[in-house]
Amino acid sequence: MEKVWILDTTLRDGLQSPVLTLTTSERIQVAELLSELSVDVIDIGYPAISVDEANVVKEIVKAVGDRSKVTVLSKPEKREIDIAKESIANAKAGRIHLFVPVSRIHLTVLEVVRNIDLLGGMIEYAKEGGFEVELTLEDALRADEDFMEKVVDVALDFRVDVINIADTVGIGSPYMVGKVVRKLKGRIGDRSIISIHCHNDLGMAVANSVEAIREGARQVHVTLLGIGTRAGNASLEEVVVALVTLGDLGVKLDVNLKSLARVVKSFSKLAGYPIPPHKPIVGDSVFYHKAEYMRIAVVRERTTYEIIDPEMIGLTPRRIVLSRFSGKPIFKEKLVELGYSLTEEEMDRAYSKFRELAEVKQQIVEDDIEAIVEEVFYERNDKIKLVDYYIEMKADSKPNAKVILEYNGKRFSGSATGDGPIDAVYKAINEALGINVFLVTYNIMSVTSGKEALGEVFLKIRLRGEEFSGRAIGVDIVRSSIDAYLRAINKSDLEM
Ligand code: KIV
Ligand code: ZN
Repeated sequence: MEKVWILDTTLRDGLQSPVLTLTTSERIQVAELLSELSVDVIDIGYPAISVDEANVVKEIVKAVGDRSKVTVLSKPEKREIDIAKESIANAKAGRIHLFVPVSRIHLTVLEVVRNIDLLGGMIEYAKEGGFEVELTLEDALRADEDFMEKVVDVALDFRVDVINIADTVGIGSPYMVGKVVRKLKGRIGDRSIISIHCHNDLGMAVANSVEAIREGARQVHVTLLGIGTRAGNASLEEVVVALVTLGDLGVKLDVNLKSLARVVKSFSKLAGYPIPPHKPIVGDSVFYHKAEYMRIAVVRERTTYEIIDPEMIGLTPRRIVLSRFSGKPIFKEKLVELGYSLTEEEMDRAYSKFRELAEVKQQIVEDDIEAIVEEVFYERNDKIKLVDYYIEMKADSKPNAKVILEYNGKRFSGSATGDGPIDAVYKAINEALGINVFLVTYNIMSVTSGKEALGEVFLKIRLRGEEFSGRAIGVDIVRSSIDAYLRAINKSDLEM
């Protein structure tokens, strides 16, 4: 079986998504997650675009460069290659990723000179110092074929390590991508690894990536949750599980499958990017069977209706553990069994959150309990606390909110009118604290299934030039929205 290399580009191409903004520390945490997952190469950025970007890349190298291979993007020109090399100089294994457009439209509109004479020299230059070199054929699915083949020949003459076929605009179908890879494989043979990079504009990025591998590609570019520009990229979790599940491809992977679900879920929390319930592999509903006959069948034989073994990707079956009739001692016992250790006061708060949920939800599963405890843990570090809030709403007028907050034993209050209740309450908080906050992203979705489920709010704010994320869970979405907002403000270490 031949190995397929997984190159994750969440921290470079994924960041082109308008809904993904990560602070330096969050980018480092994502790199650490990818390292834990044992992806083969982590694409960590494009250092030549700014000094700040180059500094972030260096920080990521400090964090994971001793255990993971890293790559950075660069145009095939000396200035950018120098910056790229310098930024990953301290990595144990580094790769310079050069790119050239190969379609007429990209060459013309991007005003790139069709001079491939210089390309070979740039590949040679990038390799100096022991770096691997990957060359992307940008917009390869609409390529001017003669030109693309000339580029490939030059790259092979200069012993490029990887040739990446990029469906930059997501126009390929599995048939088309398969055909391009087959043709290039015929030209390249084993002289270089063929890689595939697919965008998802037609919803086929994963299928296209799998087809490319069937035709001989041995590296695939992916992003966590398929995040990326426009409709995104091929999703890491879907490609990986497809390659493992489709037995006819004859390939193997080195990723740490058991940590897949945890890594993707942690990324979602960190990025403030919720996972839709029907998202393949990691969505909340994908191992859930509503129909009684399906449930019975799955208990008899899982594969009757499930083609993926949840345990293979580190998911444990969800167990119903408590109900509204469960008293505090049973709740306490359950927390101990799940490995949590809470102070008496935290236990009281966790239990009252549990009672609140049990009022509306008949069966409480382990996921619910974990969400409650996480919420209590978060509260440990909050300096600014919510004392109370009021919202006045009428059909024909804008909502009005008042909040009372506490900081170091002192109370602060603010009131404001907003376009909706959450807008009003956020403005009231800003007034109480005397700050100007810009809401960068705000997302809400249910954490657990059912109409009585816990709602989870993810948001990101910009405060005094820096971005902070906040997350909170509860049955009341206004309360969760306030908690998430305050949590993000608390992360900024605001002094009053
Ligand atoms: O989509 C694209 O063409 C890219 C390359 C730089 C790999 O992201
Ligand atoms: Zn791309």
